[in-house]
Amino acid sequence: MSTFIANLDSVTPPLTAQHKIVLWIGANAGGVGKTTLAVHIGYEMACRGFDTAILDLDSNGSMSLFCGLPRSSKPQNTMAAVFAENFNGAWPLITPSWGEPNGKLQICPGGGVMSKVVDDLSSRRRREYILSDRLSKYPLAHNLVILDCPATLGSLNDAALAAATHLLIPVQLTYKSIKGSDGLLEWYRAACRDLALEPAPKILGFVPNQFDSAEAAQRRILAQLPDKLAKIKINCYKQIRYSSEFNNASGKGLPLFLYRGSHDACSDFSVICDDLTNLIKGEDKRGI
Ligand SMILES: Nc1ncnc2c1ncn2[C@@H]1O[C@H](COP(=O)(O)OP(=O)(O)OP(=O)(O)O)[C@@H](O)[C@H]1O
Ligand SMILES: [Mg+2]
Repeated sequence: MSTFIANLDSVTPPLTAQHKIVLWIGANAGGVGKTTLAVHIGYEMACRGFDTAILDLDSNGSMSLFCGLPRSSKPQNTMAAVFAENFNGAWPLITPSWGEPNGKLQICPGGGVMSKVVDDLSSRRRREYILSDRLSKYPLAHNLVILDCPATLGSLNDAALAAATHLLIPVQLTYKSIKGSDGLLEWYRAACRDLALEPAPKILGFVPNQFDSAEAAQRRILAQLPDKLAKIKINCYKQIRYSSEFNNASGKGLPLFLYRGSHDACSDFSVICDDLTNLIKGEDKRGI
């Protein structure tokens, strides 16, 4: 791990008075599990009784695929409407057709139209604050809003960061991914400074994902990561194990909980959800 991680300072947690959490899930790499994390955390939090919204900022449409949503290219049914200049507060939220968890999970789709949003943002005033402005002027009633962010650290990620209260960062247990997270932390620190985010959104933690215990290199990296992160006061969550069933479940448009609820990996999200529960309830015992 590079020296940058070792030198990064931690920042103050930004809880709002209502303890509404806006959770940025991102990484500067594709395929590390951002959308998988968003869907499974969203599902478990909804099952715990919290109204949860996932806003998909990515153009790749994975969120809609993973949740079995109809692929709509109409901008008015997507996050593109939220970024539009004439947005009137009618958030285009869809409830997945799953029987559970009783409509407590809603999704605002992204998809291909988000590429045009990125193009348009370059000529917009307050572009980095548009999502934050929307959430202030037209607040969502949800306890938890999850932002599923694209891998490119561009204008949409700036807008997501400016709207966020907390960050969750999935990483794969490869040297490339860990090294890449240095760049992410550098971007985070610079963006918080340049966008004058006060208080800055708090890093809830890194989440090692797709852990395969049969791979010696992964075991080695996993053994070192929590201590390295602890030195810069960043939490490292327990790893989410590798299972091909995540891929099978997403292909069916379901979270693993509904595809194979007895699978051991279903329990891998519970500590993160415990922390989110405590934050929402204002009972954050670990001081994060
Ligand atoms: N723990 C896991 N075990 C096995 N496969 C996983 C796991 N987590 C995610 N996957 C699979 O890895 C692939 C990438 O995951 P996902 O789409 O969530 O990543 P992402 O970071 O959102 O990617 P992108 O940058 O393309 O949006 C998917 O096929 C997903 O099913
Ligand atoms: Mg994704």
